Amino acid sequence: MKPSTRPVARIVTPEPVIEGAGVHLRRSVGTRGLDHLDPFLLLDHFESVRPADYEAGFPYHPHRGIETVTLVRKGQIRHGDSLGHRGTIGAGDIQWMTSGSGIMHEEMPQVRPEGIGGLQLWLNLPAREKMTRPKYRDLSLDHVPTTTTDGGAQVRVIAGTASDGRLVGPVEGLAVAPTFIDVVLPAGTTFREAVPRGHTAFAYVDEGAVLFGGDARVVRAPALVVFGDGDLVEASAAEGGGRFLLAAARPLHEPIARYGPFVMNTRAEIEQTLEDLRAGRFIREEPSDNI
Ligand code: CO
Repeated sequence: MKPSTRPVARIVTPEPVIEGAGVHLRRSVGTRGLDHLDPFLLLDHFESVRPADYEAGFPYHPHRGIETVTLVRKGQIRHGDSLGHRGTIGAGDIQWMTSGSGIMHEEMPQVRPEGIGGLQLWLNLPAREKMTRPKYRDLSLDHVPTTTTDGGAQVRVIAGTASDGRLVGPVEGLAVAPTFIDVVLPAGTTFREAVPRGHTAFAYVDEGAVLFGGDARVVRAPALVVFGDGDLVEASAAEGGGRFLLAAARPLHEPIARYGPFVMNTRAEIEQTLEDLRAGRFIREEPSDNI
């Protein structure tokens, strides 16, 4: 059978949201209009050159039951967590954090002339892994090389594989088998990538304009493109070129109980989480240098 191109099922305009201690964001997944795209629970786009929009940051807060993936496009974010990690991530760096049973962390954008820019995505954990050991991966710029494809696209494979398995991302072995590919399309270039049939797939265009699907629908930043099922994602650059994050993963089809930064399967598990916080049992892992 001839491989089919995934159609554009829906184009979502992100909603303005104020999160953390007062950070102005654009949210496209995790809203009233689009609660989740199983297994993706949240997609936030932060971008501003006005310190008042971002300097308050995300002071120390907990997570349980999810993974958070942060891509920094510009500027710097200082971070620290209950596992003992401390540092700063900058343009091109990616932070992949598995909260598992519980982590506390802070993410503080630094005031700089170029401002701040980036994306944060929440990926659900399957029920059997929600109370797993927390884990942190710091994928600095040089861990995720840029490759130019035959079509002229500049791609960085963060998770999964691309180009018939020739490109392999640093994040592998997760239950939902995510594919995360950061794609820059200079004017006149095209991109074509196989995505497993049945996996949820979307593209988030955060710069310029890109044409998607067999009928080449033009999508201008900022916008989320949700794909219908099929074998391939096809894109080409509009006039000035564009950039998008392609994300795909196997849906979990499990019940979702969410309360702020906690995402479990049942209300009772959320109540247990709040009780663990009250009782000082939320953090189970001691800081260590050997993680
Ligand atoms: Co957080």
